[in-house]
Amino acid sequence: MKMNIAVLFGGKSVEHEVSVISAVQAMGSLDAEKYEILPVYIAKDGAFWHGTALRDMEKYRDIPALLRESVRVEFVARDGKVYLYPADEKTLGRRAPIALLDVALPIVHGTNVEDGALQGYLKTLGLPFAGCDVLASAVCMDKYVAKSALQAEGFPVLPGLRVHSGEGLSTAEIVAQIEKQFAYPVIIKPVNLGSSVGINRADDSDALADALEEAFVFADAVLIEPCVQNLREINCAVLGDAESARASECEEPFMQDAILSYKDKYTGGGDKKTGGSKGMASLKRKIPADISAELRAEIQSVAVGAFRHLDAGGVARIDFLMDGATGEFWINEFNTIPGSLAFYLWEPIGLPYSKVLDEMIALALKRARHQAELTTSFDTNILASAGSFGAKGKKC
Ligand SMILES: Nc1ncnc2c1ncn2[C@@H]1O[C@H](COP(=O)(O)OP(=O)(O)O)[C@@H](O)[C@H]1O
Ligand SMILES: [Mg+2]
Repeated sequence: MKMNIAVLFGGKSVEHEVSVISAVQAMGSLDAEKYEILPVYIAKDGAFWHGTALRDMEKYRDIPALLRESVRVEFVARDGKVYLYPADEKTLGRRAPIALLDVALPIVHGTNVEDGALQGYLKTLGLPFAGCDVLASAVCMDKYVAKSALQAEGFPVLPGLRVHSGEGLSTAEIVAQIEKQFAYPVIIKPVNLGSSVGINRADDSDALADALEEAFVFADAVLIEPCVQNLREINCAVLGDAESARASECEEPFMQDAILSYKDKYTGGGDKKTGGSKGMASLKRKIPADISAELRAEIQSVAVGAFRHLDAGGVARIDFLMDGATGEFWINEFNTIPGSLAFYLWEPIGLPYSKVLDEMIALALKRARHQAELTTSFDTNILASAGSFGAKGKKC
């Protein structure tokens, strides 16, 4: 019998559209012999939608029309199982489930979804899900928290300063604070976004003030780092869990400006012919990256080490910044659900996308089985003696 896989995508995130692209690609690559694929689109207002039309990229040109062809749905947990139900209020009470779900495959990017929020929801429902668990998802979404966690274990990361908008400092005061710690140029980024949204380089205090104001539009906290000179970027994906983690081929993405931009990443560098529908797969890049075998092995080993240290799972892509003149490199960011799930980094080492997805689904079930064993081993019901607790409670 086929497994029922709910593929979740969209969500209230600046990377909503990128997620649609990644998910449509993944749904096209999942093995249809093995899986019943149930698209679940999370609209920007948080409503869940289901329907086969959601697998057609063209239909997203007119989302209201697409949603008229789809049904609003909800997840229902009952008797230790999780179902997908139509959410039509008129039929409440006599609805039949659309499917009894086996696994969720979240293909979402950015805040409110990739950051542990959706993973926490799925965990609360009791539906096994692919990719990182709640904690790793949350840690990796915050560039400062991830940096601190990696730094504590001696992984190579750049120094960074985090500033909260709520600290009550004026922009001039923040500029002065940054100038005490770093020489120009510096890079300013919202702590928890992706796709280069709100990221700028500043070469002087005026540019720094502008960049801070722009970054604070997107997030309450901003990270400032020294700007890497002679910049080269190397990305490496990791697949597996703590036991089986292994590295993919390395890539070198190419940018048009000083910063790898949203346009570079998703619109094929602005080339209309390559179009915006290939997601991260359309970025101009070199695979394998043009680096020595020793450096490749070192980057792969650091990527796997970081994946293990942060207790990641499924597929993650670890992005490095390198000074091309000295060869020194730093982990820049840890993408727990990378664009296009980084499938193009596995194909060169002989792993087709469908096999990567198979493994992610198998890992989701493995983790759920393991967690079920852990929980039942201390399963006692203290409420069985509820009578002895007063209405005002009792110290435990
Ligand atoms: N410290 C840095 N020095 C130089 N360039 C940087 C630095 N940090 C980021 N960049 C540039 O900005 C791009 C986006 O930054 P990144 O931290 O990867 O954010 P995002 O999550 O949006 O991808 C990088 O790919 C790189 O081109
Ligand atoms: Mg990046």
